Amino acid sequence: MIRVGVNGYGTIGKRVADAVAAQPDMELVGVSKTRPNYEADAARRRGYSLYAAVPDRTDAFAEAGVEIAGTLPDLLEAIDVVVDCCPSGVGADNRTLYESHGVHAVYQGGEDADIADASFNARANFEATRGGRSTRVVSCNTTGLSRVIAPLQERYGVSKVRATLVRRGGDPSQSDRGPINDVLPDPVTVPSHHGPDVNTVIPDVAVDTLGLTVPATQMHTHSLNVSLESEPDAADVRALLAGEDRTFLIPPEASIDGAGALKEFARDVGRPRGDLWENCVWEQSVNVVDDDVYLFQNVHQEADVVPENVDAIRALLTDVPADESIARTNETLGMGLAGRLGADRADGRRLTAGD
Ligand SMILES: NC(=O)c1ccc[n+]([C@@H]2O[C@H](COP(=O)([O-])OP(=O)(O)OC[C@H]3O[C@@H](n4cnc5c(N)ncnc54)[C@H](OP(=O)(O)O)[C@@H]3O)[C@@H](O)[C@H]2O)c1
Repeated sequence: MIRVGVNGYGTIGKRVADAVAAQPDMELVGVSKTRPNYEADAARRRGYSLYAAVPDRTDAFAEAGVEIAGTLPDLLEAIDVVVDCCPSGVGADNRTLYESHGVHAVYQGGEDADIADASFNARANFEATRGGRSTRVVSCNTTGLSRVIAPLQERYGVSKVRATLVRRGGDPSQSDRGPINDVLPDPVTVPSHHGPDVNTVIPDVAVDTLGLTVPATQMHTHSLNVSLESEPDAADVRALLAGEDRTFLIPPEASIDGAGALKEFARDVGRPRGDLWENCVWEQSVNVVDDDVYLFQNVHQEADVVPENVDAIRALLTDVPADESIARTNETLGMGLAGRLGADRADGRRLTAGD
């Protein structure tokens, strides 16, 4: 059993903790919080051991009546790997502490790439992390882009990717984020930093990205134009994407027209927190003009990196083959939307909306 701790129990950390707890080869030893807020209370109610991330704040937990099992250094002594899910930049501050306790570390995409030995996306570069001390799971947007670019590059060759990322202003619980009534070029300089971030997991692809931020909280929307080195027909590309483990090809008959319906669907089929771990690609949008593929996809920013964190742990600490790790993660999470609803899956089973 791989002993895992999650430092930073927020949007990503709480989801990673649940995913780790669901793995047959991992033990969630505990999670840490800086303060006894509702998330700390929820962690205890879920039966997770809670640790104070800042040792001199243990009194605050006692005063709030929230039981803790110890402090972050205690947690680090009891685990093989820490998944750092702290706010952007805090992971860099924590690095020396992790190293002094001799634990492996998985960082998130809000950290600079040089924080870790490698950057990670299970579909694009699982093996680059194998056997290392640390890795960084790339951001939600970069994860979403990499899952599309990797198969296109392998099958057809990619000469250039151009992507416009329409990004949500904040997560649903972030009442201090915006804009409230505006559309912001963000960053206003082009291309944005997301293209170079894709190159940390797919080094040899030319990718230019442009970013906007909009008053939405549910998902990001990507508009992609990928120039290929060959000229497949659109049906071919759709079939390729339908065969991807972590891509849900939204069929026209599902009548899903945006993030609202996607999230409602996720809740209807019983997804925890309404999470969508897969890229959600509109089948009708996948088109080919000469050697250019076009498509729209939505990416659930709170969720798509979660299975990637689980696989990153296995890449660091085990010799489990990539495809086996990915399959194990998908199965334990219940990731049955991949492919196209109503279509036959690779394993011959027919997908249903309840998958
Ligand atoms: N949300 C997204 O859309 C998203 C998607 C992909 C990747 N990421 C990346 O994932 C990382 C985490 O983002 P997030 O959205 O989960 O942030 P978040 O919701 O703000 O959660 C971070 C948590 O860390 C805790 N924290 C703060 N300082 C800490 C410290 N010194 N030690 C331990 N815990 C501390 C905070 O809780 P308390 O202070 O209450 O304990 C907070 O709940 C970032 O690198 C981000 O860029 C985020």
